[in-house]
This record gives sequence, structure tokens and C-alpha cells, in this order.
Amino acid sequence: MTAGPWPMTAARDGAGALTIGGVAVGELTARYATPLWVVDEEDLRARCRAYVAGFPGVEVTYASKAWCSLGILQLVDEEGLKIDVASGGELHTALMAGVDPARLILHGNNKSVAELDQALEVGVFRIVVDSFEELERLERLAAARGVTAEVWLRITPGIDAHTHEYVRTGHDDAKFGFTLSLGLADEAFVRSLALDHVEVVGIHAHIGSQIFGTDPFIANAEVTLDLLSRWRDEHGVTLAELNLGGGMGIRYTHEDHPVEVHRYGKAVLEAVSERCEQLGYPQPQLFVEPGRAIVGPSTVTLYEVGTIKALPGLTTWVSVDGGMSDNIRPALYDAEHEVLLASRVSDAEPRAVTVVGKHCESGDLVREHAPLPGDLAVGDLLAVAATGAYTASMASNYNRLVRPAAVLVRDGEVRELVRRETLEDLVRLDVPLR
Ligand SMILES: Cc1ncc(COP(=O)(O)O)c(C=O)c1O
Repeated sequence: MTAGPWPMTAARDGAGALTIGGVAVGELTARYATPLWVVDEEDLRARCRAYVAGFPGVEVTYASKAWCSLGILQLVDEEGLKIDVASGGELHTALMAGVDPARLILHGNNKSVAELDQALEVGVFRIVVDSFEELERLERLAAARGVTAEVWLRITPGIDAHTHEYVRTGHDDAKFGFTLSLGLADEAFVRSLALDHVEVVGIHAHIGSQIFGTDPFIANAEVTLDLLSRWRDEHGVTLAELNLGGGMGIRYTHEDHPVEVHRYGKAVLEAVSERCEQLGYPQPQLFVEPGRAIVGPSTVTLYEVGTIKALPGLTTWVSVDGGMSDNIRPALYDAEHEVLLASRVSDAEPRAVTVVGKHCESGDLVREHAPLPGDLAVGDLLAVAATGAYTASMASNYNRLVRPAAVLVRDGEVRELVRRETLEDLVRLDVPLR
């Protein structure tokens, strides 16, 4: 089962049940119920290592927005990745996970004063400045603490990454960063030079997510290096750090063909070396920030089939016991995830069915036109591929569903990563009026 979007240890046992990390899905759901996120530890660690190996000399940083929980951050931390956080909540989670603050990078296009101050207090590695207001806020906060904030400026480089419009970030008219073509990046840098407590030590540019080719990443490297070189010439300041963001695409279905990490790394590193040589610019310390590519493919979601409605000449609707509250991606981005029958194998002829969740929304899709065996039955378990990124981290309690548990599996062992919510949890923060 190694081909396609399934985690590396996915296999079938003698009875035909899907196993991950050597554990059969039925065993997992009997213990933790459905829906359930199952994380293949070997797969996740291998992806961290592939990035480190594929980008020699580069600081690989995990974009924790993809999935931010104590266990996930601890695993990634153990693999030697730095971690980027994009809110006070993600920062808190990383600190609670025991990650050294000096390995954290703080992002966000509207960080609160409290978030900025907390970052200064704990001493994060870098703060990525996204706006003029933030430059001023940081100057005030760092002065009050008697420290100098070492920051990167987030540049909007004017690169259209040809991905879904909700995950494009590098084009000119974006909410993130200082737009290069409009002179905002230059203005931010010039303003920063006059500050006493903020020191710009590098720049950052993230162009988007779920990108398949290397060209947009190469273009990003070239544009940002050109900028660094121009600032050196114009201001006599040689910035030594360049963060090229994340965004490499992953396989959600057999039709997705992302570039392998080592090719991506090679292409980017060669482009950087060449451009540095052309510009006579000293090679900066590079950073990359993958999120999806680290946790996405390692995880599958298990659901139980609850109802099957076959409309003659129309759609066969297969309803499962979760949906948009545990995976908003199909509703949000028209995303497709491969689905398979997990509890058994079947020789029955496949037929295209539409797998939906149990929420009160017609957009609550799991997968349209999924080819599943014609004898699919109520009680069968379905597995949905590549659900580690932007699913648990975007989960909700819509329709007051409890959020699922997540487990980590390896060599036949199961460890709980996130406990399943209870009905008590659902009303825990509600304040009754009588
Ligand atoms: C600043 C920044 N870095 C990294 C990432 C990670 O992107 P991906 O999960 O596609 O690798 C994101 C995603 O939105 C981001 O906004």
C-alpha cells in the first residue's frame, strides 16, 4: 500500500483489515471509537528526516498551524525541527510541549500586543513582522523590556503560486506582509533602521500552500535574494537570514504528484547558490517552513458508515459519523481525499458513491464520486487519506459533535495523542442563564 496517499506502514492484515503501524483499524476503533485520527509515527518521523536530509544546511521549521498539539510538537521537536507558531495559543502549546522558546518563530498578520510581549518575554528565536503597526508596537514593547527584538520582515513577493485562492499568500494583493511591488517592503526596512529596539536580521516570504512544482519556490528565492542584494547596495546592510516559507504539496489522491523533497531541496538550494553568486551576495542562512508535508500524509481518519441511500439514476449517499467538523477541507477548498474500505477487503465491483458527513449542511462532503465496493454496508469502516494537516487544527464542534481522539501508532503500539471530547466538554464553557 505504499503507493498513493497512504502512510508508509499502511498494510492489510490476514483478515483483510487495514493496519497502520501494525495495528488493525478495528482494534483502534473498538478502543477509541470513530471518527478517529490515526497517526503513523514512522511516517511522520520519516518526513521530518527527509526534509532535514533534503535541505542540508537549512533550518527546517515545522509550521504548527498544520496540526498543533502537545504530542505532535514533541515528535517534531525530537526530530530537530524548529517550530513556527502563529498565535499566542500555538505559542502556549509549544511551550507546554516543552519546546525551547529559542527554537520558536512567531508569525501572524495581526499579533496582539499581549502575543508580541509574550514572545519577547519567553525569548522566541524570531518574530516575523507583518505590518508597520507591528514594527512600532515591537519597538515600544522591546524598549520597555530593555531588549532588542531580532525580527524578519514578511515580504509579499508578488508571486502567484497557482494554488487555491484561499491558500495563496505571495501575490501582491494579499493580507499578509509588506507588498514588494508597492514599495512597502522598502519602507518597512527603512523605518526599521531608525528603531533602537528592533533589529531586522532577515526576511521571510511564504507564497502559498499545496504547491506542486518547484518553479514558484525558485522564483521566490530569486526575488527575495534580489531584494537582499539591493538593500545591501542601497543601505549598506547585509541581512544574513532568509526564510522561504512552506507550501510544498502532498498527495491526497493518486492523481496528485508532488515533487519529492530531495528534488525540491536540490532545486531551491541550487537556485539560491546561483543567484548569490550572480549577485555577489554571501549565502544567507536559509529556513523553510513545511507544515502540510510533515503531518498531512502521516494520518488517516477512520469513520463508520451509518446510512446508505441509493437514489436510482442519481447519487448513492454514504453517510459517516463525522464530517466537516473534523475535516473542513472539502467544504472550504473543494479538497479531495482518497477513501477506502478499511475494515475488510471486498471483491464486489466498485461503484461511485458520495461520502458525506453527518452535519446539517449540503456542503458537508468527505469525498464525491468515491469508488467503493458495491457491497459497502452499514457498519463498515472507511479510511480517509492524508488528514494530518489542517483538519484537527481546524476542527469544530459544529452540530455539537465531540471532536475525535487522535492516536499515534507504531510497531503494534498505540499511544493517545488527543483524547476524544465528552459531552461534558461540550458545555464546559457555557454559562447557563438559569
Ligand atoms: C507563514 C507560513 N509558513 C508556512 C506555512 C505552511 O504551509 P504548508 O502547510 O503548506 O507547508 C504556512 C501556511 O499557511 C504559512 O502561512
